[in-house]
Amino acid sequence: MKERVSRKFAELFGEGAVLFTSPGRINLIGEHTDYNGGFVFPGAVDKGIIAAIRPNGTDRVRAFALDLGERSEFGLREEDKPAESWAHYLFGVCREVQKRGGAIGGFDTVFAGDVPLGAGMSSSAALESTYAFALNDLYGCGIDKFELAKIGQATEHNYCGVNCGIMDQFASVFGRKGCLIRLDCRSLEYEYFPFDPKGYRLVLVDSRVKHALVGSPYNDRRASCERVAAVLGQEFLRGATMEQLDAVRERISEEDYRRARYVICEERRVLTVCDALQRGDYETVGRCMYETHWGMSKDYEVSCEELDFLASLAEECGVTGSRIMGGGFGGCTINLVKEELYDHFIATARERFAARYGHEPQIYDVVISDGSRRL
Ligand code: GLA
Repeated sequence: MKERVSRKFAELFGEGAVLFTSPGRINLIGEHTDYNGGFVFPGAVDKGIIAAIRPNGTDRVRAFALDLGERSEFGLREEDKPAESWAHYLFGVCREVQKRGGAIGGFDTVFAGDVPLGAGMSSSAALESTYAFALNDLYGCGIDKFELAKIGQATEHNYCGVNCGIMDQFASVFGRKGCLIRLDCRSLEYEYFPFDPKGYRLVLVDSRVKHALVGSPYNDRRASCERVAAVLGQEFLRGATMEQLDAVRERISEEDYRRARYVICEERRVLTVCDALQRGDYETVGRCMYETHWGMSKDYEVSCEELDFLASLAEECGVTGSRIMGGGFGGCTINLVKEELYDHFIATARERFAARYGHEPQIYDVVISDGSRRL
């Protein structure tokens, strides 16, 4: 990928480009907790975006998306938003860097990626983090790492229409080889946890389905949480108990109640999993993963038939833990599997899923890797 990007850059714009990369992410547990001020437990993966970039001395950006074979050119003012939707990420990052005082200029760039799109592995965060990191480095903006993650998040909010939390961009920027990171999304304190479950493997089973849903179901979930938090008189759902939620049940809709219940339970599960990991108690980790899956499916309603099928199948095969990963509505399950069950599980998942849905799932072994960097 690195060579492809460099070669294309040289062909389109000449020599002198610098290469940057940022990864996608997995999340062991703590889904839809980030925007509720709760905990998440992600790690960066060995798949990401690579960009070649070189300032061009003008006030225009000339960008080429290698995987799409598409070009976009835009200026750096608010009114210069390009038409291509992939370019909104680059444009948004430029604008957000400028809003934080970064004195950037125009540049030429080519990028490519190997984070599967729509799999719930945050290809968009990888793209945002790559450019936030690159611009900060090339123009010496002096923006700290947390703010780089926030630049990606603000890009989603202000230029892409997704009111996401901070998890994906944080994991992409802060990733460390072999470590998961527990982030408290309220205090923004974080801790690296070496993750090397002896005798187990972490594998993603990608359904390769992405359900197009009307409106923005993600933003909708977030709005539910904010409504309930307001009724509870809190800034976030974080820290709320089931007793408190039950006490206001009459004042909120049944749907909001179920969504808040999921979030409250999920927050507890992240802490349970962290403790269990420190004891090497993978049975508890796995049990929590299944609980998350069914909470996301029944209470939060962000799963789908294909993902429920995969989680059930995993359970049937004796997989220790399995659940839908990421925002939902398609994508993949993350599975904690005993070494000796791995081959059987993967073969069964391929066969049974294909028999039912007409195509095989894609399998990705998780390799936990480093975050944003210059190559
Ligand atoms: C998406 C968002 C994240 C997070 C997850 C769900 O990936 O970008 O901020 O909310 O969904 O955990």
